[in-house]
Amino acid sequence: MENEMKNPYVRGIEHVSLAADGKSVRILDQTQLPMREVYLNVATPEECYDAVKKLMVRGAPCIGIFAGYAMAAFAEQRKELDLPEFLMEMKRLSSYLNSSRPTAVNLSWALRRMENVMDENAGLPVPEIAERLREESIKIHEEDIEMCRKIAEYGLSLVKEGDGILTHCNAGPLATSLYGTALGPILLGEETGKRLRVFSDETRPLLQGARLTSYELKKAGVDVTLICDNMASIVMKNGWVQDCFVGCDRVAANGDFANKIGTSGVAILAKHYGIPFYTLGPSSTIDMNCPTGDDIKIELRDPEEIREMWYKEPMALPDVKCYNPAFDVTDHTLVTAIVTDRGIVYPPFEENLKKLFR
Ligand code: MRU
Repeated sequence: MENEMKNPYVRGIEHVSLAADGKSVRILDQTQLPMREVYLNVATPEECYDAVKKLMVRGAPCIGIFAGYAMAAFAEQRKELDLPEFLMEMKRLSSYLNSSRPTAVNLSWALRRMENVMDENAGLPVPEIAERLREESIKIHEEDIEMCRKIAEYGLSLVKEGDGILTHCNAGPLATSLYGTALGPILLGEETGKRLRVFSDETRPLLQGARLTSYELKKAGVDVTLICDNMASIVMKNGWVQDCFVGCDRVAANGDFANKIGTSGVAILAKHYGIPFYTLGPSSTIDMNCPTGDDIKIELRDPEEIREMWYKEPMALPDVKCYNPAFDVTDHTLVTAIVTDRGIVYPPFEENLKKLFR
């Protein structure tokens, strides 16, 4: 208890929640971090779609939690509709939200849960269906908190006091709830006195590592060093990294997984230097219906993110050709283990994932 008090950030932040009147979702706008902590309410389908697309809310589990709340808010706003119209409109909104980002499975997973609640309760009056949806959205959030806590415990069991951990992108509380996934063991270690040192890749082009991971870890009192992505090799070569912990957006049935662009490069480096490489994710990120990484759709984003965003002036000619995939797939042969809320999964992944997730 005393340890928890030392670290209010890990437990204190509520960055996605349903507004008190149930008609909008309150979010911390992650695009403004780390310099401004701005909360705003999003209510219309377009505002909710944009919040995901523009990465105001981001991180695989977090967009699932957000989608649940958005659907609950849409239902609350539409309680006056008659039943067939309500169900039709809600399904339309669900597929609209689902089209905002393709790679993280958590978005469609959460929306499917909300749709199942509608189907199972289709005989009830609309206000009661809306109430069931509200309850389901809170359940999705609460379950994520529990899953992150378990992942943190499993992950912490893999490391020694003082180990150097390299991470990529942001898989902390902002990307999930409370502990996060890849940052979970680090934050739990900080709370319980098993302190770790972290190297955070800045994560070009949207800088989630610089803007969000180093922000979260600094706030929690963790020893964090920010590096550019192309410095991962030197810190590994220097012997400063004992383990790599990264998040995941979709884990395929064979153990291949999608995560932020650049993750597979970290895995290749880790293999070269003989450093264990772990991905950490909740059950909601394991997609047993996706056979391999080749079946994962990779989101392509605006070239503007590479050419000019963050710079005082454009750093490339406006018409230069750019390729801007938001994610890449790490081959399962590079992965030491997949740390989930149901346990630590080691190779052979195809066989061992099946034991826990089917
Ligand atoms: O584009 P983003 O910022 O949503 O990408 C996030 C990541 O790739 C995270 O590592 C992943 O979602 C895991 S979050 C627990």
